Formats: sequence, structure tokens, C-alpha cells
Amino acid sequence: MRYELVVMLIAVLAVLASSAVSATDGLACYFGSWANYRHGNGFFNASEHLDTDLCDHIIYTFVGIDPETGKVRILDEYLNIGNQDEYTGLRGFLNFTDLKKKNPNLRTSLAIGGWNQCSLNYSIVSNDPTKRRNLIESAVSLLQEYNFDGFDLDWEYPSQRDGNPVDLENFNTLIREFREEFDKHGYYLSAAVGASNQAADLSYHVPSLSKYLDRIFVMAYDLHGSWDGVTGIHAPLYGTNAYDNMANETLASLYVDNCIRGWLNRGADPEKIGLGMPTYGKSFDLSDPNNHEIAAPAQSYGGISGAYTGEVGMMGYNEYCESKETKDWTEVWDGEQIGIYAYTGRNWIGLDNEKSLCIKAKYAKDLKLGTTMIWSVETDDFRGICGPTKNPLISAIKDGLSANPTLC
Ligand SMILES: *[C@@H]1O[C@H](CO)[C@@H](O)[C@H](O)[C@H]1NC(C)=O
Ligand SMILES: *[C@@H]1O[C@H](CO)[C@@H](O)[C@H](O)[C@H]1NC(C)=O
Ligand SMILES: *[C@@H]1O[C@H](CO)[C@@H](O)[C@H](O)[C@H]1NC(C)=O
Ligand SMILES: *[C@@H]1O[C@H](CO)[C@@H](O)[C@H](O)[C@H]1NC(C)=O
Repeated sequence: MRYELVVMLIAVLAVLASSAVSATDGLACYFGSWANYRHGNGFFNASEHLDTDLCDHIIYTFVGIDPETGKVRILDEYLNIGNQDEYTGLRGFLNFTDLKKKNPNLRTSLAIGGWNQCSLNYSIVSNDPTKRRNLIESAVSLLQEYNFDGFDLDWEYPSQRDGNPVDLENFNTLIREFREEFDKHGYYLSAAVGASNQAADLSYHVPSLSKYLDRIFVMAYDLHGSWDGVTGIHAPLYGTNAYDNMANETLASLYVDNCIRGWLNRGADPEKIGLGMPTYGKSFDLSDPNNHEIAAPAQSYGGISGAYTGEVGMMGYNEYCESKETKDWTEVWDGEQIGIYAYTGRNWIGLDNEKSLCIKAKYAKDLKLGTTMIWSVETDDFRGICGPTKNPLISAIKDGLSANPTLC
């Protein structure tokens, strides 16, 4: 009798233990739909190029918001919905959610917001109960109409930029109301959040996010850029004393591990956290081409842009790796921070490669975070131009998550 009781207790404890230490699995992949307009090798067709075996959750970006009514606003009807009278080969939303036919376990979400939409319109809507209701109801209709499984809030950021201090509380109310409505439909609710400790304090009540959201995607990138006035890898896993002579504690504190621990210390359930990683680098214009270490003086306006993305101060990994054919980059592995940097003449870029992403995925696993996330699929080497495999960066994350990683 007593023996049986002990056996039963052990069994119960084993079940409890196994549910408590659930493994990090999965990769959420953001898709920037405007890559449909890129030329040459930059052109990304989700139906063809998005690898539904590597990504477990795919997120279509972005829809916008109407500050007058609160309703979701479709920003590019031609791209997202297509020409209703004549089929031109494109039905952005439907073609995206149709990817589930390739992988029935795939989760699909639609994201609202993003950097370019600033904060003000979200601030206005979240401050008004009727507008919040309209936002939630219009989101539900869109998900139903286009077969999405979830909605992703990318308000950048509550109480920051052109937002308002009341945003922090209003965002809580908004996600609570979203949760109540989504529970009726079984929809998945996630948000992409500013990563740093400073951003967390300004914008979020972390325990509420952890309670109401299915996932908190921590955008642990863009931590450094030309605005620092010195070179830096923008998503380094660990800190470095290279910034010491800058006498700026904030600057030195901006690294992935510090951000993630900040979220955990503020009460986020590790299970809810998705560790965000980039498929692009931040570029710099060196003040002195002979000084090309980390924290070397650089111009505030940012470095060269990529051939397809055309944005000053950044280059997709695909663009960087293709440019190695014509530019004589010297590439350096930074084993202290975990990442790489490369320079040629005045040009400098800091980014992730396969090895650093593998290490970060292992890190997520060690901290038992719920999942990983990548921004974004269309700047990985999705055509396999630079090496033997397509999507080397996304594959490296999957490798890092696996039981026996080969890349790190
Ligand atoms: C996109 O990919 C699909 C599936 O491979 C293909 O049918 C379609 O023609 C492609 N569209 C363009 C514009 O290349
Ligand atoms: C896109 O969706 C439309 C409408 O469902 C469909 O006719 C078309 O074949 C799809 N295209 C691709 C590439 O899947
Ligand atoms: C906010 O909404 C207004 C009014 O609809 C619109 O004109 C504006 O472009 C929006 N702002 C941003 C940054 O998207
Ligand atoms: C420290 O660095 C951060 C990040 O670049 C910057 O926002 C801040 O203004 C800097 N502080 C000072 C005192 O220079």
C-alpha cells in the first residue's frame, strides 16, 4: 500500500517536472510583404520562397490603424487582397495563409503596426473604449475572412516616440480585451516588444503581457546603430568593455542577454518569451578607415545600404553575402559578444551569421524560453546564392534548437 503510494507520488512528480521544463521549440518568422516589390534577387514571393518546414509560425506584416474609427486599415490593397475584378497573380493574405497546405501545423498571424507607423494613432485608439472595440472586431473579421490563426500587435511603442504616458495602461486594457474576444474564437495573440530594460519600463506592465499574450516577441536587435556615434554589433548576445571609454552605461547595457534577463526579472514567464533575432546587419561609415574595431568612431548618418532594401544604415544578410563577390570585406568573429563584423575602406557592418544564431538559439533553450523569432525571412539568403543551402540563417536557428547542433 505504502509502496504503491510512493510509486504514485513519483509518477505525479515526474509529470509535474516534465511539464515545468518544457523545451524551447519553434521559430516564428516575420515576413515583410513589401519584399514583393524588390527587384532581382531581392524579390521575395512568399508562396515560393517562404520555407514552411523551417518556420513554425509565420507573421505577415503590416496592416495599419484608422485613428478616427479604430478599425484595422489595409495599407496596400493591391498587394494584400489583390485586384478583385481580375486576378493578377497576387492575393497577399490568402496566398500567405494558404501556406498551411504545405504544413498543416503551421500557425499564421497578421501583424499590425511596425516602426514606420509611429505610436500616435495607436495611442489615440487605445485611449477610447469604442475604438478599441472596433479595432478588435475588425481584426477578428480580417482573421476570419483570410484564414489567419492569430493577430500580432507591433505598436512601436506605447508611451514612446509620439505616444503618451497613459499608453502603458491603455495597452494593458487593449490586450485584456483582445484576450477576452480571442478566447471565444481560439485565436492566438502575440506582440512584438521593445527589448531593452529602458523600453520595458517605459512601455509595458510585463506581468500583464505575460498573462494576456500567447507570445511576447522580444525584438532583441537594433540595439546599436549609427546614432551611437561608434561602431557596434546591433544584436550582440553579451556585453563588451569596448564601450568603456564612452562612459555611457546605457550604451554598454544594450545586449541581448541583459534584455532577456530584464524581461524575466520583471515577471515574464519564460514560456511566453520568443527571442527575436535579425537576418540583417547595421552598417556604419567609419570616421577613420584604419580604426575598425568595435566602438570605433563612425558618422552619425549610417553606412551603405543594400542593393535591394535600399535603406541607409542597414544591409540584409543576403545583400551583405552577395556583396562579398565584389567588395573585399575583412570579416571578424567576435567571440566575446557573439556576432560578426566586417569592414572594407570606410564601410563597416555588424551582424549575425550562422554560428552566432546557433549559439543564440542554444541560449534560448538554456533559459527555457518558449520560442525563437526572426525578423525577417526576406533578408536571409533565401535563394541560396552565397552557399550550398537556402535560408542558412533560419536553418542555423533550427540547428541550435536541435538536440545535437552542428554549427555551434
Ligand atoms: C510565386 O510563386 C508561386 C508558387 O511557386 C508561383 O505560382 C507564382 O507564379 C509566383 N509569382 C511570381 C510573381 O513569381
Ligand atoms: C493566390 O491566391 C489566389 C486566390 O486564392 C489563387 O488563385 C492563386 O493561385 C494563389 N497563388 C499562389 C501563388 O498560390
Ligand atoms: C495616422 O492616421 C492618419 C489619419 O488617418 C494618417 O494620415 C497618418 O498617416 C497615420 N500616421 C502614421 C504614422 O501612419
Ligand atoms: C548613451 O547611449 C544611448 C544609446 O545610444 C543614447 O541614447 C544616450 O543619449 C547616450 N547618453 C549620453 C549621456 O550620451
